[in-house]
Parts: sequence; structure tokens; C-alpha cells
Amino acid sequence: MSDKDKFNFPGGKIDVEWDGHLCIHIAECGQANGDLFIGGRQPWCQPDLVELKDVIEVVERCPSGALTYQAKDSSIKEKPAEENTISVSYNGPLFVRGDIEIENTPADMEGIAFRATLCRCGHSKNKPFCDNTHEAIKFQDYGAVGDNGEGLSNSGGKLKIKQLEDGPLLCSGNITIKSGSGRTAWEGTQVALCRCGASKNKPFCDGSHVAAGFRSN
Ligand code: FES
Repeated sequence: MSDKDKFNFPGGKIDVEWDGHLCIHIAECGQANGDLFIGGRQPWCQPDLVELKDVIEVVERCPSGALTYQAKDSSIKEKPAEENTISVSYNGPLFVRGDIEIENTPADMEGIAFRATLCRCGHSKNKPFCDNTHEAIKFQDYGAVGDNGEGLSNSGGKLKIKQLEDGPLLCSGNITIKSGSGRTAWEGTQVALCRCGASKNKPFCDGSHVAAGFRSN
């Protein structure tokens, strides 16, 4: 990633940063009420036009981690969601929230410690992140989840995500998987999630990546 992908929007109490390398234009920011983000305006983001708490709340809506903030008061920092959730979206990526640690990702992508959008169609050119290629290839999976998992005795803590070479995302920690309908579907501490698009038991890996010849790089 180069610095040209990053844009800083300074404010009196808080700066906002946007990382174009992560953004998949879900538009949680642009759709938000208020004047923080206005499409077509220069600059697009103006942190001084809304209350500090509203800057924080709207930036933390960003599902991909593309938006982050830095408050001038250094005691104000983003905190991870209390529960680690992986939401399987309708014909789209995995939306991840929580205390996230994705191995082999650049240290300067601060937002993905809290929020990330991960490819599950197998065709992103920006793996492990979604780049919306699922739309071009007409990836189809409505996000049904068949298994319940072994359950959880705890919540929170680190959610570690390993990118297995030419294979699934191996996730460990206290994890709740939400189906495409929003149902709390699966709970457990270890799960291999398909990222090749070929599993017949999505969102779980069933080994189909081998026959599909999936390449993670
Ligand atoms: S990664 Fe898709 S089946 Fe294993």
C-alpha cells in the first residue's frame, strides 16, 4: 500500500483518516445524518462541522476499517466491540468486528484492529480484504449457516485470523458468527472459514479449495 491511498481530514478536536485501500464503499459514512461526510464537497469530510461524539460514532460505523480517527485528547481511543462477530453477508464478504488481529497485514492499517471486511468469493485482488469483485463475478451465497458450533463460555478477547496459504481463514478466539439474515448462528472458539468461494458448506471450509485450485496470492 502506498501513502497515496490515505487521506487525512484534520479537525480542531479530532482528525479523521480514510484508507482507500480498504474502502469498499458501503457508504455508512455518506448515508449518516449530519454534515460530517458530504459526497462531492471539498473536503468530503469536515470533522469540525459536528460534535466530537458524532465523529467517533460515524467513523466507527465503517465496516471495512477504512475510516479511523485520532482525537487530540489522547485518552480518547477506539475500543473493540465487546463481542467478536463475523457476519456472513448476502452474496458478499465477511464483516468482522471485535478485537481483531489478522496475521500478515500492514501495521499502518489501524482500523482493521476493530473492523474488517474479508473476501469469501476467492477473487479479490486485495486479499484478505474484499474489493467488491464478488459483484463482477456474481458470487452467490445468501449467508445461511447450518452448524451451531460448540457454544461459548466467555466473550471478548482477541480474535486471531490466520490466512492459510491457498486455503481458508483460520479464526480463533471467542467468536459469534451471524448469518446473512442477522441470526446469531454459530458460537465457538475455532473455525476455518471458506475464502475460495467453492465450499458446499459455506461459510465453513470443506476442503473444496484443493479441487478448485484456489490460490491465495
Ligand atoms: S477455503 Fe473454500 S473450501 Fe476451503
